[in-house]
Amino acid sequence: MLQQTSSPAELPLLDVKDLVQRYTLPRESMFKPAGQVHALNGVTARVMAGRSLGVVGESGSGKSTFARLVMALEQPSSGSVSLMGRDLNRMPAGELRRARRDFQMVFQDPYGSLDPRQTIARIVAEPLTALGRMDRATLRGRVAGVLRQVGLRDADMDKFPHEFSGGQRQRIAIARALITQPKLIVADEPVSALDVSVQAQVLNLLQDLQDQFGLSYILISHDLAVVDYLCDEIAVMYLGRIVEQGSPEDLFAHCAHPYTRALLEAVPRASAGGTRRRRGAQSIASQSTGATGCAYASRCPLADQYCRDTAPALRNVGTAHLAACHHAEAVMALPPAAGG
Ligand SMILES: Nc1ncnc2c1ncn2[C@@H]1O[C@H](COP(=O)(O)OP(=O)(O)OP(=O)(O)O)[C@@H](O)[C@H]1O
Ligand code: SF4
Ligand SMILES: [Mg+2]
Repeated sequence: MLQQTSSPAELPLLDVKDLVQRYTLPRESMFKPAGQVHALNGVTARVMAGRSLGVVGESGSGKSTFARLVMALEQPSSGSVSLMGRDLNRMPAGELRRARRDFQMVFQDPYGSLDPRQTIARIVAEPLTALGRMDRATLRGRVAGVLRQVGLRDADMDKFPHEFSGGQRQRIAIARALITQPKLIVADEPVSALDVSVQAQVLNLLQDLQDQFGLSYILISHDLAVVDYLCDEIAVMYLGRIVEQGSPEDLFAHCAHPYTRALLEAVPRASAGGTRRRRGAQSIASQSTGATGCAYASRCPLADQYCRDTAPALRNVGTAHLAACHHAEAVMALPPAAGG
């Protein structure tokens, strides 16, 4: 469970409970049963208003599946997603469409996510027009307003996506997400397709917008340095489960899961004196998990027979710091990881 610091009376903006998502794979032949991918294996998370949750993990760990479920773009196999106390998967279609003004998404690919045939005005206005009719002058006024908020100019609204750089396109995608004045923005790898020099500018913009509007973010990245920059809490995912969660300080200074440690060793922390640098997507292929034992055991330097026999539960290892590892205390006692 990921629970961000709050007064007991404060309701979470987003409350995700025990999300499971299975996908059925096409049958390889008529003699073989259809396989299943367990993309999410029971993820629980909370985001309080104005706070940010970072979700990190290697390719295939379930980050985008989590994002799609939070955005109610798919029905989960089980579990629930509630925004301001309302279960998104139990809403009638019309109500869900109206509720979408409160949560918007920014995708990874600033080239693929903007329709090349549409003007910027149309692209940015789309989430508003989807909510109902609005006169043209008001709509253009709203578009101009959000373009300025993301550092673009009014005149940009009559241009087309190909006239902009990758960083500018991601600003356009952010403007489109902002136009309904959402409370939550889910950003799935928002900077990983951008040049290193542009990444910090886009992250700074997200930070400024949060300060200005009290937005909450779910920021998904395979890169701990990116979520460290923007998030109050970080959840580390491995094969569809949260294996560690806590504040950036908890994770960088006292990480408790061998998998987090492996991620930290790959990415130095800028604030700890290292140089923030990007790595390519870590291509540690997803492995099939046995029915019993810790899913990380086959890669873990600390794995013993108990680990191979008994799956570790996510448990408290500090204040608001959780880890799913039998030997978390031993991991925390190690000298800081190279990057931490
Ligand atoms: N629609 C689908 N049908 C079948 N399998 C899927 C589907 N969507 C995701 N998966 C599988 O679910 C697992 C999690 O995928 P997901 O895209 O959520 O991972 P990710 O952490 O976002 O990875 P990446 O860093 O590469 O974007 C993977 O094994 C993936 O192949
Ligand atoms: S439970 Fe055992 S195998 Fe799993 S991460 Fe911890 S030490 Fe490694
Ligand atoms: Mg993904």
